[in-house]
Amino acid sequence: MTASDTTTVATPTASNTTPVLNVQRVRADFPILSLQVGGKPLVYLDNAASSQMPTPVIQRLHHYQTHEHANIHRAVHYLSETATAAYEAARRTVQHFIHAREEREIIFTSGTTESINLVMHGWGRKFIAAGDEIIISVLEHHSNIVPWHMLCAEKGATLKVVPINDAGELQLDAYAALFSERTRLVSLGHVSNALGSINPVKQMVAMAHAQGVPVLLDGAQAVPHLQVDVQDLDCDFYAFSGHKLCGPTGIGVLYGRAALLEEMQPFKGGGDMIHTVTLEKSTYAPIPNKFEAGTPPIAAAIGLAAAIDYLQGLGMDAIAAHEHALLQYATAQLGAMPGVRLIGTAREKAAVLSFTLQGIHPHDVGTLLSTEGIAVRTGHHCAQPLMQRLGVPATARASFAFYNTLTDVDALVAGIRSVQKVFA
Ligand SMILES: Cc1ncc(COP(=O)(O)O)c(C=O)c1O
Repeated sequence: MTASDTTTVATPTASNTTPVLNVQRVRADFPILSLQVGGKPLVYLDNAASSQMPTPVIQRLHHYQTHEHANIHRAVHYLSETATAAYEAARRTVQHFIHAREEREIIFTSGTTESINLVMHGWGRKFIAAGDEIIISVLEHHSNIVPWHMLCAEKGATLKVVPINDAGELQLDAYAALFSERTRLVSLGHVSNALGSINPVKQMVAMAHAQGVPVLLDGAQAVPHLQVDVQDLDCDFYAFSGHKLCGPTGIGVLYGRAALLEEMQPFKGGGDMIHTVTLEKSTYAPIPNKFEAGTPPIAAAIGLAAAIDYLQGLGMDAIAAHEHALLQYATAQLGAMPGVRLIGTAREKAAVLSFTLQGIHPHDVGTLLSTEGIAVRTGHHCAQPLMQRLGVPATARASFAFYNTLTDVDALVAGIRSVQKVFA
């Protein structure tokens, strides 16, 4: 079976009223998708690394730079007030997008990595002591491992790790058994970047809270695909990046429960985060400014809000339904190919397909697919402990966005066949 059309296979029925994306119309919003790479049409399947930006976001950035730009929070002139209003409106857009209770619970950072580091420095360095324990999982991206290694080395604390089964699903019995009276924090990925597993984080938050332990969720791979509601998840911190959400690079978000943010120490010192400064000491501004020292990425925050507006205009349900259809089709197609091993077969998955080809190094797979215009990621995906657990040095990873089509999947399948022919 090959794809006969380029629109989603999700069809609304009386019992399923999920709106259907008009993918061709959506694709027209993304100028980069009509690029030719080496004379071949671009097939962009590296969305888990960074997704592409639609014209409304590019136009919003252009309008900001040409009509609104000045430094924020500091001056009373027209442009500064306009830029400040747009930046603070962006904070409210994020608040509503993830359903935070208050806008002051939204901290703009440079990305997921900085958001997690902010919690490590601001919360961890204040509240973690020698002998304490932090729980993560073997599925984590390095940015949810390395900061905790740093903290453990500094404080004499210990990391405990939730294992997975061979499908790439977290083992909840083992998770429950990791808690002790020294557990101080749980920090988990919502969706695995390497395998696509959607972790049962709501249940895992409840289990941690039953032990009085706060939870940070790394939502870098969840927010682009799922409707995230931090109140429903009941998490204490939630981190994500703009560039995986069709927004600009250099912008990310840390959501934190107001009470926790208030008791944290600032991560960086400088302008715009203070209440008063004398030569002897500084006092700090209330949240969120306490955590936004210096000139923030103003344009990028406004661009992120435009990206969120764009995605919400399409509908997160429609996005999820389309991506699910792509994943099902791609899984069936690749799963039936001789010599292809799918890595990560969790029952609940986002549209990420990691695979290896028998006898061919993933880097060769990526390089040869690129000659066909197909962009996939190859390597350890910043998840070396996971690769060690799976017993593979690396995988090739196709990660889909709502603007991908069944035809893109067919191109991947044809590309894999040509790679296999080269090595036959
Ligand atoms: C699950 C996960 N966490 C964290 C990150 C780091 O995001 P950033 O590089 O935008 O800080 C990524 C990036 O790939 C990711 O996939």
